[in-house]
Amino acid sequence: MNVRYRVSSPVQVRTDATVFFLCEDEPYRSMQSEAIRQLFPATEAALSSSDASGKKSSLVVAYSPERSSTRKIVVVGVGRSADVTAETLRRAASAAARRLSNGTKSCAFVLPDGCPLSPEDTAFAIVEGAVLGSYKFTRYKTSDNASGIGEYVVVGSARSAAISKAVEQAAIVCEGVYLTRDLANMPGNDLYPETLAEHAKRAGKEAGFRVQVFDKRKIEQLGMGGLLAVNQGSVRPPVFIVMEWRGGSAKEPPVVLVGKGITFDTGGISIKPADRMGDMKMDMHGAATVIGTLYAVAKLKLPINVVGLVPSTENMPSGSAYRPGDVIRFMNGKTAEIDNTDAEGRLILADALTYAERYKPRAVVDIATLTGACVIALGHVTTGLMGTDRDLIARIEAAAARTSEYVCELPLHEEYLEQIKSDIADVKNTGGRPAGAITAALFLKHFIGDYPWAHLDIAGTGMAPKEGAYTPKGGTGVGVRLFVDMLRNW
Ligand code: BES
Ligand code: MN
Ligand code: ZN
Repeated sequence: MNVRYRVSSPVQVRTDATVFFLCEDEPYRSMQSEAIRQLFPATEAALSSSDASGKKSSLVVAYSPERSSTRKIVVVGVGRSADVTAETLRRAASAAARRLSNGTKSCAFVLPDGCPLSPEDTAFAIVEGAVLGSYKFTRYKTSDNASGIGEYVVVGSARSAAISKAVEQAAIVCEGVYLTRDLANMPGNDLYPETLAEHAKRAGKEAGFRVQVFDKRKIEQLGMGGLLAVNQGSVRPPVFIVMEWRGGSAKEPPVVLVGKGITFDTGGISIKPADRMGDMKMDMHGAATVIGTLYAVAKLKLPINVVGLVPSTENMPSGSAYRPGDVIRFMNGKTAEIDNTDAEGRLILADALTYAERYKPRAVVDIATLTGACVIALGHVTTGLMGTDRDLIARIEAAAARTSEYVCELPLHEEYLEQIKSDIADVKNTGGRPAGAITAALFLKHFIGDYPWAHLDIAGTGMAPKEGAYTPKGGTGVGVRLFVDMLRNW
């Protein structure tokens, strides 16, 4: 992917297509459309049609003559100039990029004037929208060799190091999101714990962060009884992936990110129904988000220490599988009664949250496709947020507002603890139907160390049943932009 900023007149930039943004209010609409008409007279008819209203989601396409620098001109509306936000621009850039056919290899995006964002924030949002909206998962298509847009040029009139840098950084963040989406979308026959670890190593090598992979023996030595119990039914061994980016000073404690890495969730002995079970290849989206985030953070060379932890296994039924009624013992010595083997995510995260303590972290955030209950509560639009620390929650909420990766906090009142009490062990792994996202988080809370902690339930937002404004159907890559933004602003 080639993404760059160029100072030039739009007519000087040779690309297959050129995108302009158009406001709906005067005098901007007239000024902007007149400027486009002057540059590309072929847009005359399109611009004078009522489709070129400048309203949000309005879009016109015009074709310029063979010899001109660009063949296709897209004019996309962004609504009232004073109301334009980063999200407006992401959506508009995505809509424009998606309108271009598979044959379009290069596209220019002309920085609009008149909107309240700084030019660098404008450029950042346009790159995000254009690149993220153009994503296609083609790895398993043998005939679909249309590669889509490979070259994105942001065009502006001001020579500015800040704009160039914003474009470069936005491209890196998008690469992280692409990596996360690819991993989430890969099927369970190719993506299982050991191959997930290989992908993490490759990402580490490319971006420059350290990756260690603990094998089953090491996991046994550490006493990670949750991860081992879930793994019992699988012929594939578990892994525990440790990723470290040291961009801060040596003595500064790291922020630790923990991602659920269930490479396929059948439910185990408490087996899931067949309908849509295939979606459970994406039950490692949290892990993929953590890998994609480390990739972006390292490539951005952020001046902060970040650790990524990924416990990974399949959840399979078999003669050796763990069963309902079993009592298991975790790395921190606590015990849990297994009520339902399909509540497996919390069991592998429990050991990772214990392991995190050895970093004396300044904060720990886990991210997981944890509960169907969260999908019922918040749908596919909003991530469930829970935690123990106001400051950490505020940081996540601020990043969510800037990135439009929405979060909503759910309460962890101790009254809910009643639901996960066990008669025979310290805790039970399910709490019944009511408040299922909350009781899952309260289970995790039993295993946190002495650090600020937050939990993100992306069961709904990680797996999309249909395409969004700049997200694809399937693995969305949610969390990468959120985490990178949070870490950049720490
Ligand atoms: N991976 C699932 C959660 C999930 C459900 C993610 C739907 C995405 C879409 C998780 O492991 C699970 O099965 N949770 C159970 C817990 C229950 C048994 C307490 C659930 O939500 O049904
Ligand atoms: Mn499950
Ligand atoms: Zn699961």
